[in-house]
Amino acid sequence: MKRIAVLTSGGDGPGLNPCIRAVVRCGLKAGVEVFGVQWGYAGLIDNDMGSLDSRAVSGILGKGGTILGTARCPEFLELQVRRQAIRHMNQRGINGLIVIGGNGSLAGALALHEMGFPTIGVPGSIDNDINGTDLAVGVDTTLNTILDAIDRIKDTASSHQRAFLVEVMGRDCGYLALQSGLAGGAELILVPEREGPTLESIAEEVLDAYMRGKSHCIIVIAEGWKPGTKAVQEYLLSRREELGFDVRVTVLGHVQRGGRPSVFDRTLGTRMGAMAVEALLSGESGKMVALRGNGLELFPLAEAVKQLKPLDSMLLELAEIMD
Ligand code: F6P
Repeated sequence: MKRIAVLTSGGDGPGLNPCIRAVVRCGLKAGVEVFGVQWGYAGLIDNDMGSLDSRAVSGILGKGGTILGTARCPEFLELQVRRQAIRHMNQRGINGLIVIGGNGSLAGALALHEMGFPTIGVPGSIDNDINGTDLAVGVDTTLNTILDAIDRIKDTASSHQRAFLVEVMGRDCGYLALQSGLAGGAELILVPEREGPTLESIAEEVLDAYMRGKSHCIIVIAEGWKPGTKAVQEYLLSRREELGFDVRVTVLGHVQRGGRPSVFDRTLGTRMGAMAVEALLSGESGKMVALRGNGLELFPLAEAVKQLKPLDSMLLELAEIMD
């Protein structure tokens, strides 16, 4: 293998740049030329890629986002589109690809592998919903961003004696809500993996916090939880007089995806990028680099994308005790 390519795909997150940097520098060290593909799979389809030297990845270790750009690319589900992508790589003499991204992106990587194109995945997603890896690149920084916000919200919530609904990302997965709620001392955490509680019992929790003499009530809600933050807000406001606390809502949104990667994400991105190159050059394909305990292992992409990573129900129970 003399030439490989790397792309970032799906939602961005802190730590992607350290990973790209590791892929480029480890690839060059091993004697291969590394191409950076722009805008995820869209760049493979549009033939938008270029060779990266060591200097091209200088100074990016501490930068959020991805220097390659990223995109969601539903067209990549089409066979003819993937054929075009492979043709473009073949024309340039590229015969291995590293895909850094979440579930949809890793499904694309698996599809390329199944078409005979050597492909290795790296889990990059703030949601931490990728099966088979303890953590994905970006999760640690995002959690710290959320925690910083919750701490700040708590200050103002206590000063005004208010209940706050803090909505965090996690379309299908409550990991960010659970971990940040636990670390931030939330009174209640609502995640899509667990049905309920009813609006009535959420109101009871708020009243209970008020009656216990708490100065605030923080409810962390994953964006994928149904019936959703707005429904809770409206219900609590409809019973505002009896609940004691007034209610405010903060939706953290894309603030959670940006920012300087933490030490952990810089290191994880670097380690995973290095291992992805090593795996590709030693003939592996159809695998994802996964963090298991403190070590990195290769995990089948087919297993990684088969289901979402389950939530640790023991942590949920612990959070309930801690409220
Ligand atoms: O892909 C992860 C994620 O951050 C989800 O938690 C969130 O729902 C989604 O991305 C938002 O995507 P977009 O930036 O495309 O609106």
